[in-house]
Amino acid sequence: MINDGLEGVIAAETTLSDVDGEGGRLIVRGRELRDLVSDTDFAGVAALLWDGLSPMGGQRKALARALGAARSDAFTLVPGLMAVAQGLSLVEGLRAGLALLPDQAPIAPEIRLCAALPVFTAALHRASKGQLPMAPDPTLDHAGDYLRMMRGSRPSAAEARAMDAYLVTIADHGLNASTFAARVIASTKAGMVSAVVGALCALKGPLHGGAPGPVLDMLDEIGDAARIEPWLEAAIGQGERLMGFGHRVYKVRDPRADVLKAAVATLRGGDNRIAFAEAVETGAIRVLARLKPGRRLDTNVEFYTALLLEALGLPRDAFTSTFAVGRVAGWTAHVLEQERGGRIIRPASRYVGPLAA
Ligand code: ACO
Repeated sequence: MINDGLEGVIAAETTLSDVDGEGGRLIVRGRELRDLVSDTDFAGVAALLWDGLSPMGGQRKALARALGAARSDAFTLVPGLMAVAQGLSLVEGLRAGLALLPDQAPIAPEIRLCAALPVFTAALHRASKGQLPMAPDPTLDHAGDYLRMMRGSRPSAAEARAMDAYLVTIADHGLNASTFAARVIASTKAGMVSAVVGALCALKGPLHGGAPGPVLDMLDEIGDAARIEPWLEAAIGQGERLMGFGHRVYKVRDPRADVLKAAVATLRGGDNRIAFAEAVETGAIRVLARLKPGRRLDTNVEFYTALLLEALGLPRDAFTSTFAVGRVAGWTAHVLEQERGGRIIRPASRYVGPLAA
């Protein structure tokens, strides 16, 4: 018997996160997502994931400082990044830039990778607009400094907080496709840089971390409240997927959607956009229930990711890389866990080709 898409197959034991698809809950190392988002920041969730440390403890501050220093270190690599990223899209440039990192370096690989992602993403984004890269400010929190490097000026406290809420929300999520890719690569002892490059490659597909840009494209194309259900019905009729809906594990609403919706609400402006998005969301759930009966398709994390990143002034072509800026905490934690104990991941296939003559 084959489990198509490995659905329901348990391929690893982890202490990192538990995705409860029926209850609509996400637990990160014993903490409820909602509490984690209100109590800590990106450095705190990284300390929790990597070392099981309290996300509110003193180590969080030390790690925030280490991340700041590592961002400055990553900035020295930006000229090399620019040389290899010529003519590539932002996420392709990020993929090329990460591949330049050596396996061995004085800084711990998980810190180095967490620092390189925001610095490289911001430098690539600014270059795409003909702007010089902005050096990191190691005294700032990771999320606030990322926004600052992207936009060229220091964000408000509310914006930095909303960015942090996003990075914490998406830091880890069980054995999703990109994390699984990272664990497969780590299981061969190829090293953390290779595992994270592979994870990014898996993330960038539209069925995984490439969905939020197309969510906004969908809202733009619908354009008007009167067109919502006819547009959605036509899209499904043509065999398209509604971006930001459906999930392999969640059979109810993705709990991350509400956390991100609350984060968008803390930002000023954009009320009309949110109201329209809510109307599209309601319409999509109704249309999916009608046209895909019995499939239990609901809102996933990417729908409100799109609205939050847009409200923070980030461009659509940076959404997938921004997802990676947060998820790298989880990827690297899974690599550490895999390296500590796992065997090489090597499943089997059943041969259905022609028999030898
Ligand atoms: N829109 C329309 N139909 C859908 C959707 C959707 N968003 N999602 C699933 N379906 C339908 C499929 O067409 C299929 O119907 P069928 O049996 O009539 O052919 C049925 O529901 C089951 O779909 P599967 O592809 O088997 O579900 P799977 O668990 O493999 O896929 C996935 C999960 C990839 C997330 C899917 O729901 C999807 O494509 N969603 C849209 C893309 C998206 O939002 N991705 C982000 C996911 S969150 C993340 O990765 C961070």
